[in-house]
Amino acid sequence: MIEVHGYAIVSDDDRIADESGRTPDILRNDADWAYFQKELDKAAVTVLGRLGHEANPNPRGRRRLILSSSSSGLEQRSDGWWWNPQALSWNEAIGTVLPEGGRVAVPGGRRVFDLFLDIGYEAFHLSRAEGVRIPSGVAVFSACEQGLSADAVLSGRGLKPSAREVLDPKVPISLTIWRR
Ligand SMILES: NC(=O)c1ccc[n+]([C@@H]2O[C@H](COP(=O)([O-])OP(=O)(O)OC[C@H]3O[C@@H](n4cnc5c(N)ncnc54)[C@H](OP(=O)(O)O)[C@@H]3O)[C@@H](O)[C@H]2O)c1
Repeated sequence: MIEVHGYAIVSDDDRIADESGRTPDILRNDADWAYFQKELDKAAVTVLGRLGHEANPNPRGRRRLILSSSSSGLEQRSDGWWWNPQALSWNEAIGTVLPEGGRVAVPGGRRVFDLFLDIGYEAFHLSRAEGVRIPSGVAVFSACEQGLSADAVLSGRGLKPSAREVLDPKVPISLTIWRR
């Protein structure tokens, strides 16, 4: 059994990065980071886009599956598995990476979040820096750039929200887990 969990921290207008493509400091939060790291410890593999992979060192040596058009399908390199979804299906890729099944953590970016909307999230852990807006930033899902909220996108895929939890009262940073 494969269970896909998505993780994002967004602004009130559902942005994961600013207009230059960088994560602004206001979306970096220690309590959210600690929650995310604890969640990654439960996952058998972390799936991320090439830029996120290159920007985030992997000191704990967690197993990674990196999306890139540079992969011919699926191959194992020294820093993880590299996958091109245009060349090989998800079922074939994950069947090779995790033949025993397990939890898959998906921390983005946007094209990766979009792809897994179709593959299917078991849960999406949506943290929010409340009261923050990032006009012209990069949205968590491309549909948010056409005016849909992230909540509407997730609920349109059959996920239901948990009660809002506060991870850090200072900003505040809240967490809602959307589950199938
Ligand atoms: N706030 C948050 O929760 C959050 C979450 C994630 C990211 N971010 C931030 O968002 C910013 C943007 O991230 P990003 O979206 O630019 O980078 P990204 O998703 O980490 O990497 C993009 C790259 O991944 C590969 N890729 C992604 N989807 C693919 C697909 N379907 N098929 C083939 N290759 C695919 C491509 O690599 P190739 O060029 O090699 O083909 C693409 O150039 C960064 O600043 C990051 O820190 C924030």
